[in-house]
Amino acid sequence: MLALRFVRRVAAEVRRDVAAARGRDPAARGVTAPEILATWPGVHALLAHRVCHALASAGVPMLPRAIAAISRSITGIEIHPAAKIGDRFFIDHGSGVVIGETAEIGDDVTIYQGVTLGGTGFATGKRHPTVENNVTIGSGANLLGPITVGHGSKIGAGSVVIHDVPPNSTVVGNPGHPVRVEGRRVEGPDADWVHLPDPIADAIKVLASRIAALERAIEEREQRAAVAPLRRPPAAHEPAPAAHGEQNIRVNQSLGPNPAGG
Ligand SMILES: CC(C)(COP(=O)(O)OP(=O)(O)OC[C@H]1O[C@@H](n2cnc3c(N)ncnc32)[C@H](O)[C@@H]1OP(=O)(O)O)[C@@H](O)C(=O)NCCC(=O)NCCS
Repeated sequence: MLALRFVRRVAAEVRRDVAAARGRDPAARGVTAPEILATWPGVHALLAHRVCHALASAGVPMLPRAIAAISRSITGIEIHPAAKIGDRFFIDHGSGVVIGETAEIGDDVTIYQGVTLGGTGFATGKRHPTVENNVTIGSGANLLGPITVGHGSKIGAGSVVIHDVPPNSTVVGNPGHPVRVEGRRVEGPDADWVHLPDPIADAIKVLASRIAALERAIEEREQRAAVAPLRRPPAAHEPAPAAHGEQNIRVNQSLGPNPAGG
């Protein structure tokens, strides 16, 4: 009787996990449940973790770590057996995902490849993030330390998040900053974390405009040189043509600022 209840519970969990993959991965639409079960690495890693976590919670030594290690070598997804994961969790693609020992993940959470829920150093105790329900974490995002990501929030791909995230927010960038809270754009003098200045791109733009101006100046000189032999020699009372040095000064003056400071 107990065994039957256990089998039913596991079967329901597997059904929910497969349904989560089908619901949240556009590539899984129209794919049968057995096919998802057989070929989706995120689903494999999650099912392996559910077994590891149950064994670790029951105090079984070594086996949970061994299963987690095998699962990692097959899927590229590393989940510590002690990490707590809620219902309908979905890992899309999966490779490079790391979920630390004291991480806690709520229900209906989606994460993409390369996400780390990690610690910040050698601290002990609770040192990994808590992710509440309905959170989406974009590919390559790093969430570090015992922070809490509020329910319904989104973490942009490639973000590095080291502070708590309020519920229903969008956080992007490194360091991660909210650009939306409760669906509204964040207001304030330092709120524009998306359109940060890019000094390297600015320097490249200035260099490109200097090169264009130099090309124009060279072209003009070449055109003048081409027609010069056709001109009559200057009369004795006419001023001599400008020397090379003077021409260079005039060209430099017309080019604008030099990003290298020269
Ligand atoms: C953050 C994300 C979830 C979008 O959330 P959203 O709440 O719909 O936010 P928006 O698209 O309205 O973006 C809000 C602002 O953040 C910017 N932004 C979005 N994602 C960003 C990112 N990853 N990095 C930096 N800025 C980002 C947008 O350009 C936008 O700027 P704007 O205010 O000037 O328009 C999404 O952009 C993202 O990163 N998803 C992850 C997808 C992923 O990993 N896919 C992998 C598939 S293999």
